[in-house]
Amino acid sequence: MGSLYVPPADLVPYRTADGSLTLRSVILGEQYHSKFGAVQESTHVFIKAGLEHAAREVVDVLEVGLGTGLNLLLTWIRCLEGKNRVRYTALEPFPLRVDQLEALGHCADLAWPGLHEPFIARMTDGHGEWHDAVGGLAFRLLPMHVAELDDENAYDIVYFDAFAPDVQMEMWTEDVFQRMYRALRPDGVLVTYCAKGMVRRVMTSAGFIVERLPGPPGKREMLRAMKLV
Ligand SMILES: C[S@@+](CC[C@H](N)C(=O)[O-])C[C@H]1O[C@@H](n2cnc3c(N)ncnc32)[C@H](O)[C@@H]1O
Repeated sequence: MGSLYVPPADLVPYRTADGSLTLRSVILGEQYHSKFGAVQESTHVFIKAGLEHAAREVVDVLEVGLGTGLNLLLTWIRCLEGKNRVRYTALEPFPLRVDQLEALGHCADLAWPGLHEPFIARMTDGHGEWHDAVGGLAFRLLPMHVAELDDENAYDIVYFDAFAPDVQMEMWTEDVFQRMYRALRPDGVLVTYCAKGMVRRVMTSAGFIVERLPGPPGKREMLRAMKLV
């Protein structure tokens, strides 16, 4: 299926307000995380409002938009700390290059330099095969567009981390959220940093019960959408 989005050629590291790095593009007029703090935003939205609420012994996570892998690393660190066991599926049709990932230095920044090698191996393997669990986290990267995902009842949490609707509207349609709804198991949740009214409405039309939660620093609200069947 086609996409209107073309990855920009001018991605450069950008230091956010909490000191952590993300990527920014002037062409796109957007960065991969909130400028108020990349680690702060990922921790607040995806780990605290998402992963920490999962009750299953082994949690199936689907990430839409793997990008720099920051959400993956924060999830992996929780697993290494013995707090969760996770099977992590990431969708990313435009994986970043090794030099772009190395320029960010996420593993050293998060004080887990030993993860660098296995992290790069997973981030750059687009064959869609599972990497066996290491430190409690199994991983596969599916190099596909969200509009091609047809999985059913397969995931407990969706980390929905697309670019904002005004940058990439095609990610925030009812068709996409119907796919997310089908992909989740009953009682599964989707979390996202975006709280726009339009997004809440399409999520509701797709069948979700949508909650507004306090957002990370710099953002008033975020959304958690539940599949209650
Ligand atoms: C906001 S960034 C993700 C940030 C990422 N989660 C991180 O921790 O760095 C959005 C990501 O969505 C990806 N993307 C673009 N079009 C997509 C599509 N059709 N399906 C899935 N992902 C897509 C982009 O390549 C980009 O990596």
